[in-house]
Amino acid sequence: MFCYSIVKWYEGAMTRMIDPDAAREAPCAGLRIGDVAPDFSARSTTGDVRLSDYRGRWLILFSHPADFTPVCTTEFIALAGSANEFAQRDCALMALSVDSLFSHFAWLRLIRDRYDIEVRFPIVEDPTLIIGRAYGMVAPQDTDSATVRTTFFIDPQGVIRAMTCYPANVGRSTPEMLRTLDALQAVESGSVLAPANWMPGEALLAQPDASLDTVFSAKGQTDWFMKETRRGPRK
Ligand code: BEZ
Repeated sequence: MFCYSIVKWYEGAMTRMIDPDAAREAPCAGLRIGDVAPDFSARSTTGDVRLSDYRGRWLILFSHPADFTPVCTTEFIALAGSANEFAQRDCALMALSVDSLFSHFAWLRLIRDRYDIEVRFPIVEDPTLIIGRAYGMVAPQDTDSATVRTTFFIDPQGVIRAMTCYPANVGRSTPEMLRTLDALQAVESGSVLAPANWMPGEALLAQPDASLDTVFSAKGQTDWFMKETRRGPRK
């Protein structure tokens, strides 16, 4: 419950704005799948950004521990290289770390010069950890201000649909981020499910019909709960 005191609801807008004073004290955001992503505005490498301005399209908000570190650099090269694939899915990317805006700029310049790739999605600066704490990217007991590798998949209504958390020493998989996004978009209607290792174009599963009549009348032993349905769109 305490987590909710760090944000306030804006009447009608279904937007929770992070309260800067309270956020510093938050023990843990406790964000869950299905929560509206807390709103914030901040400086970024592409200018000022506000999370709620992304309503109407998918957004992947992700944190990285620090600029100028090896694993983070590989992640940004990989994500910038796949930027078109995210755009094709109408999904924006937004990165965040505690580093300053000028650190972000210097790092992006180095990535461009050394690896010949321009990171054009915004990287937010969060030097006070206000956003990082609200999203549980850092905990107050952490002795280190670096954010972990959290990733929030936020739908066009601003609702968190999936989240992952990786440690500093393991980089995320861009193909898996795209696959998760594809799966979330394929099951958006609520009537179908994406099975393990599902890829676009493969069969989805039907929501099981949980009635005893269906269970007893099913031909095969698993037919009542395990049924393939239409194929998801091929990407
Ligand atoms: C890295 O991105 O390589 C990294 C970041 C923080 C701690 C350790 C490694």
